[in-house]
Amino acid sequence: MTSYNVGVLPGDGIGPEVTREGLKVLQAVADLEGLQLNLVDYPYSSEYYLKTKELVPDSVIDEWRTLDAVLLGAIGHPDIEPGLVERSVILGLRFGLDLYINLRPIKLYSANLCPLKDKGPEDIDFVVVRENTEGMYSQIGGHLKKNTPDEVSIVNGVYTWKGCERASRYAFELAQRRAAERGDGAGAKLTLVDKANAIRPHDIWTRAFAQVAKDFPDIETDHAYVDACCMWMIKNPEWFDVIVTTNLFGDIITDLGAMLQGGMGIAASGNIHPGATSMFEPIHGSAPKYAGKNVACPLGAISAVAMMLDFLGETAAANRVENAVGDLLRSGDVPSVDARSGISTSEMGDMVVKRVRR
Ligand code: IPM
Ligand code: MG
Repeated sequence: MTSYNVGVLPGDGIGPEVTREGLKVLQAVADLEGLQLNLVDYPYSSEYYLKTKELVPDSVIDEWRTLDAVLLGAIGHPDIEPGLVERSVILGLRFGLDLYINLRPIKLYSANLCPLKDKGPEDIDFVVVRENTEGMYSQIGGHLKKNTPDEVSIVNGVYTWKGCERASRYAFELAQRRAAERGDGAGAKLTLVDKANAIRPHDIWTRAFAQVAKDFPDIETDHAYVDACCMWMIKNPEWFDVIVTTNLFGDIITDLGAMLQGGMGIAASGNIHPGATSMFEPIHGSAPKYAGKNVACPLGAISAVAMMLDFLGETAAANRVENAVGDLLRSGDVPSVDARSGISTSEMGDMVVKRVRR
């Protein structure tokens, strides 16, 4: 029996509730596919920090490296300095495990979920490859004369050739794989999104991307500045197949992308280092106002489980989960993928489990 060691960080707010449903689905599919799961729980969260003043110690990051994958719920708490625990846990995982790809699929399962008129599932099916370890998230910078009228605040955007190259290469390979899986003769297309007109150092992306492109002559390439990308995502989302972009732009355009899918409640992501321990999470936050009410939509967390299974090479199990979510949303039984759907967090998990077993 194949067995996997999976770290679980439910985190804050709605994190524990949606993670519980993700694990429910994971266990159901593991039983069906004959997979053995060893779940290792980690308490790191804002709540835990408030109680213990403890952030993630380096020894735990080393321990995470020995796992097959990590599942994360959400981090964030209104009573704590913004970003303190997020940087320790989320960025601790991303930077600590060098998870240089943040893979964020934007797939609409049913037209009723989409806020755009005249757009349906055939128009909205693309993937954002967000560079995940550098850019404006470098943490290099600081304040001078803080809290005085002369305060100076500096943050450095860091773009390395290695970072741009490996993200671009991953995106080209993904575009190739998607075209092969579609098998419909529709060509693969990869769009680089940056702001190399106003932020000239972004042209390291232009050059690294162009160099990698030489290894993929069959893939059509395109380019958009990030502002125009936002426009095209609304106007002509069908133009996109795979997008590769910087850390910050990827953060921003994937919230926009989540809305195209129906909302933050369904968007999932994989923080990936190919061949090494990787982390999977819904892209939504801890949504404190919905915490503990059993109303949050768990489909993002459940889709993150599907991404984890795919990453682990458990394609059949991943497809079971992905198809179950797709079937459920296409059934018309789910009016929205948010806290106002009228379907509780646990009921939604049960609805997916039922379809996983079909
Ligand atoms: C995301 C989140 C995080 C980010 C925050 C919580 C640090 O917005 O995963 O998109 O900015 O990457
Ligand atoms: Mg974000």
